[in-house]
Amino acid sequence: MTILIRGGTVVNADRAFRADVLTEGDRIVAVGENLEAPAHAEVIDAGGQYVMPGGIDPHTHMQLPFMGTVTADDFYTGTAAGLAGGTTTIIDFVIPDPKQRLMDAFQTWRGWAEKAAADYTFHVAVTWWDDTVHEDMGTLVKRHGVNSFKHFMAYKNAIMADDETLVKSFRRALELGAIPTVHAENGELVYQLQRELLAKGIRGPEAHPLSRPPEVEAEAANRAIAIAGVLGTPVYIVHVSCAESLEAIARARARGQRVYGEALAGHLVIDDSVYRHADPEVARAYVMSPPFRSSHHQTALWQGLQGGNLHTTATDHCTFCAGQKGMGADDFTRIPNGCGGVEERMAVVWDAGVNTGRLTPSEFVRVTSTNAAQIFNIYPRKGSVSVGADADVVVWDPQGTRTLSAATQHSKGDFNVFEGRTVRGIATHTVAAGKLVYADGDLRAERGAGRYVERPAFTNNV
Ligand code: URP
Ligand code: ZN
Ligand code: ZN
Ligand code: ZN
Repeated sequence: MTILIRGGTVVNADRAFRADVLTEGDRIVAVGENLEAPAHAEVIDAGGQYVMPGGIDPHTHMQLPFMGTVTADDFYTGTAAGLAGGTTTIIDFVIPDPKQRLMDAFQTWRGWAEKAAADYTFHVAVTWWDDTVHEDMGTLVKRHGVNSFKHFMAYKNAIMADDETLVKSFRRALELGAIPTVHAENGELVYQLQRELLAKGIRGPEAHPLSRPPEVEAEAANRAIAIAGVLGTPVYIVHVSCAESLEAIARARARGQRVYGEALAGHLVIDDSVYRHADPEVARAYVMSPPFRSSHHQTALWQGLQGGNLHTTATDHCTFCAGQKGMGADDFTRIPNGCGGVEERMAVVWDAGVNTGRLTPSEFVRVTSTNAAQIFNIYPRKGSVSVGADADVVVWDPQGTRTLSAATQHSKGDFNVFEGRTVRGIATHTVAAGKLVYADGDLRAERGAGRYVERPAFTNNV
């Protein structure tokens, strides 16, 4: 398949320039002015539009078994929704049960992901420790293209990693040239606060943020950064939601420590009033961890993206329907944690970031695609509109508008955390691996077309 994207402005992280883009098979083969259309080419008119690297969502959970249920979107429906919003690659998570071999979990997730419509790759979670974990981390890095390992510092009595696991896993990651990532929340503190709230009879979704105040997150962020600093490993902090965690990152970076931070589209624009919604079903739909926070924290997160202390935007796409959320109707600790957004992230970040003047179009590309590609070592195959890169391209109409809604979303979730928000700046065409998979509202996602993307380690002296 050959596609010529004609007449647009190419936006990369380093610059924006007028150029046509020609793709042949799954690669970009030419970027330049006035390219000839090969006879068999499909031509996309990008006049008045931007042509950008397809989005990379570095944090999703498709088909995740979690808190006694499984997310509504599987790898097909979730990646298809992403394509409709201009996201062409996801980095999902393999999450072994404690005592489960990492390699067994990895093979299970690889099987589940075969139906993906867009390219995917995996962070692998280290939820426990013994010699087999040490061995499997090596196998994953050396033979399976995994270069990042995830640590949940929350979810006590489930997948929480204790300090021993963190230290041993961070050290092993360093040895292998892989990057540790953390969900930073003090799981013990969350657990005790949850018990206290329940004992006081505060059982509804309004208790969720009370059990996870910013300090709970900041303590864990500081701890992970300290461990990484002592061992000399880089560290990537997922879903940074509060000013205090951001400050921990900024302080460490000012000292010269290699720390990266991720912001979620939801945390950037949704505030904690959602937990006090009159309809508890709506309030439960917003239960995710860390929780949505006050506007003070949103301002800080934008400043983090602008100032270079936060590097990526993600969604933590992890959809549960009302029936599933209802498992926690009389005990907020049983509400499955997670919200959607894979389809909306790019438009939400553009609308609230570029339209407000906070980000330039190139900075938008940096935080929605290029930085993730560089941090997780798939650049410039991903994250760049350039010759030789994967033909993952989004044509973006800065004047196009859409009102986000569960009624029109492609996700199989039954709720949209951005419900009713009208955004200006939307994907009109998405090209993934050289195929036109989304065109002016017509989603042509193909089950199984997505490919597993190997991510090499950062060093080879293992
Ligand atoms: O609430 C959330 N974020 N659910 C997904 C799992 C995680 O912590 O990322
Ligand atoms: Zn070793
Ligand atoms: Zn998390
Ligand atoms: Zn997550």
